[in-house]
Order: sequence, then structure tokens, then C-alpha cells
Amino acid sequence: MALFLLCYNLLLFIPGYYKYNTMNGILLAGGSGSRLFPATSVVSKQLLPVYDKPMIYYPLSTLMLLGIREILVISTPRDIPHIKKLLGNGAHWGIRLSYKEQNSPNGIAEAFLIAEDFIGNENVCLILGDNIFYMGSQLNVFSEVIGKNEGAIICGYHVTNPERYGIIEFDPNDTEKIVSIEEKPKSPKSNFAVVGLYFYTPDVTQKAKELRPSSRGELEITDLNIKYLQEGRIKMLRMCRGTAWLDAGTSDSLLDAAQFVQLIEKRQGLKISCVEEIALNRGFIDDQQFMKLIDTYKNESDYKKYLMNIMNER
Ligand code: DAU
Repeated sequence: MALFLLCYNLLLFIPGYYKYNTMNGILLAGGSGSRLFPATSVVSKQLLPVYDKPMIYYPLSTLMLLGIREILVISTPRDIPHIKKLLGNGAHWGIRLSYKEQNSPNGIAEAFLIAEDFIGNENVCLILGDNIFYMGSQLNVFSEVIGKNEGAIICGYHVTNPERYGIIEFDPNDTEKIVSIEEKPKSPKSNFAVVGLYFYTPDVTQKAKELRPSSRGELEITDLNIKYLQEGRIKMLRMCRGTAWLDAGTSDSLLDAAQFVQLIEKRQGLKISCVEEIALNRGFIDDQQFMKLIDTYKNESDYKKYLMNIMNER
């Protein structure tokens, strides 16, 4: 079994062997965290806890669930050392993590300039470090579609406060066809928000180079998506009813997210976004590696007890 897992894991890292698994992931965890001041005065927003684990575990686990194992974490010069201390090089979870700095919050689309070498000729997925996804089996449907990406794929979620997000307008005669995307519109044309999970072909770097800063001084991800829309190369995946997309960027949304996670975890006795459990179930690490890893964790924590229990139930 151990030999099989070793060979399987080696194959996944051979470029081109299995398209969807060789997609690279970018986890953007910078920004100033100004909406959470003073909680973010000395610590990165993405390291604040969402109930029982750091916020960054949630987007990281979404990438892992999508089968993405080669991940670049982008954050501020101040926060990278702390994030690195928490996540390391990822080998203990069977993934590969590397790090790059964003010197100031020049916009989400700047990630593709910072990540130019990392992206190379591979398709890429970008996830925002304060976005939490609870999608169950719909993630498997997503995995299939993104494996065949020929431009940009964005994901839409129905919200009550569309003024806060990038908003998608649809063709009234074809509800799958995108007509426009607007960033934080005053008069939103729908309630479908663009969530912080995006998929692109490698030409995204070239397109990001053509962007100019918006009125708020940022390279906007919406402007990038509009470029794909103009070329007729953008698709939207609609997140179903019953799934949850939360962004934890304000005091209220952070508390909402924590309470959501607490409610589900307490009721089910199963954790959301437990990276060790995902690594084990996905076959990124084997039982022995899992045991060795959790041996190093603090005995008193409920988190460790949960992980021990996973092993006992296997
Ligand atoms: O959450 C989804 C929304 O994210 C989309 O609907 C919008 O179209 C998109 O513009 C973005 O809007 P926000 O106003 O929520 O983005 P915010 O500035 O809060 O940044 C989102 C995350 O990205 C946050 O964790 C910080 C990080 N970030 C942001 C910027 C501007 C960076 O790491 N670097 C940056 O330069």
C-alpha cells in the first residue's frame, strides 16, 4: 500500500501526467486587513481563528479538495514569516507550498504578475485567503469542469448584499450566458456575486499585464474577467442552494463564519477544512505519515483528539 501511494504521488508531480492534478494554485493572503482593525494590527487577517482553526486552513483545504497540490501563497512581507511558520513547505500534508511577497495591496489581479514564473504554462486557480467554501459533492462537479477550462471560469453565489461584490449580469434568454460583470455596483443587475475562487488558462499573466489600476488604485480581478468576457472565453459555475460561501473580512462576517463552522461541526462531529484529514482521505499522505504528524501535536487540544479518532475509526 505504502509503495502504491508513493508511486501514485510521484506520478501526480510529473507535469502533464494528469491535467487536473497538475493545475497550480495561488492562495492570496495579503491585504491590509483594515476592516478588521485593531484585530489585525500585529497579525494577518488570514491567521485569525475561524472557530477552531486559522482562517487560511479553509481556502487551503478547498484547493486540496480540488486535487491541487502545488500552491503558491502570496502575502505581505510582514505576514509571510508567520504564515510560513504555520504551514511550512506542506510536505507533511503531501502538498508543495512556496511563498512570495506582495509589497502593497495593489489589487487581487497583481497575484498573476507576482506568480508569473510559478504559473508557467499551466492552468491556474486563484483562491482568496478570507473565503470559506462549504460545498459537499458539488466540488466534484467543479473538478470535472475546471479540468477542461479554455479561458476563465468564475463561480457565482446568490447573495442578499450584491453591492459588496463583483456582480454578474445574465442574458434574460439564456441564464447561463454572462452579459456583464461589475465591481461593487451601486445598482446591481443581479444577486449573483463572483466568489473568491477563479480558474484561468496560462494567458492570464499576459492579460494581467495589460490591466491598469482602477479608481481605487487596484488591479481589479473584475477587469481581468471582463477581458475574458470580451473574448467570449468565460464560463460561470453556479454554486447550488445548500452550499455555503462565506467571506470573513469584517467583524460580523468573521463571527458568522465561526458560528457556521461551530454549528456544523458540533452537530455532525466532523470537521470542516481539517487539512490533515483531507490529506489522508485524498491519499496525499498514508496512515503512517498521518500518525507521525499528529504525534507532534499538543495533547491537550480537541483538534488532536479529533485526528486520533479518525485513525481509530478507520
Ligand atoms: O470575496 C469576493 C470578492 O472579492 C469579489 O466578489 C470581488 O469581485 C473582488 O474584488 C473581491 O472584493 P473584496 O472587496 O472583498 O476584496 P478585498 O479587497 O477584501 O480582498 C479580498 C482578499 O484578497 C483579502 O483576503 C485580501 C486579499 N488581497 C486583496 C488585495 C486588494 C490581497 O492579498 N492583496 C490585495 O492587493
